Amino acid sequence: MKIETTILNRAKKYFVLASAFIFFLTVLSFVTQQGPWKAPASADQKKNPLASNEQSIAAGRTLFMKDCATCHGKKGKGDGPSAAALGVDFTDFASASFQGQSDGALFWKISEGRKPMPSFKKQYQEQQIWQVVNFIRTLKK
Ligand code: HEC
Repeated sequence: MKIETTILNRAKKYFVLASAFIFFLTVLSFVTQQGPWKAPASADQKKNPLASNEQSIAAGRTLFMKDCATCHGKKGKGDGPSAAALGVDFTDFASASFQGQSDGALFWKISEGRKPMPSFKKQYQEQQIWQVVNFIRTLKK
């Protein structure tokens, strides 16, 4: 009789522990889950001060090949050498839905970053971010 109660109590304890663990994992998966990445509406208000010309596009291309292509690929298809290891679904920068975003939204995303994408606001001057935006526009289909 006594032995049976001990076994039962132990089973209960393990059950409680296992439930707590599963609950913890569930909460964790919700916290780390990321929805679609949207820039705040205020970002659309920021106007691109740089004309899209040979000079700004060439400067943007140089920066893109140096700092972005390892993940996004040279044409923004998400097929850079570091992309596969990240296990993320990359947006095709040539797609209409991507290109439909405002320059300000792109500026905001490049400035802020979102894991695993780094933030560039410390590394780049504003002008350099606009140059990259102008280059990204040339990837449109
Ligand atoms: C370490 C890899 C990595 C690097 C380096 C990187 N990114 Fe990203 N970037 C990502 C990931 C991951 C996402 C989220 C998936 C997606 O939207 O393609 C992303 C998303 C974006 C988006 C938003 C896409 C959308 O759907 O609106 C833009 C714009 C962008 N990156 C631009 C850049 C630019 C410009 C650079 C270089 C200055 C850069 N990224 C460097 C990994 C990277």
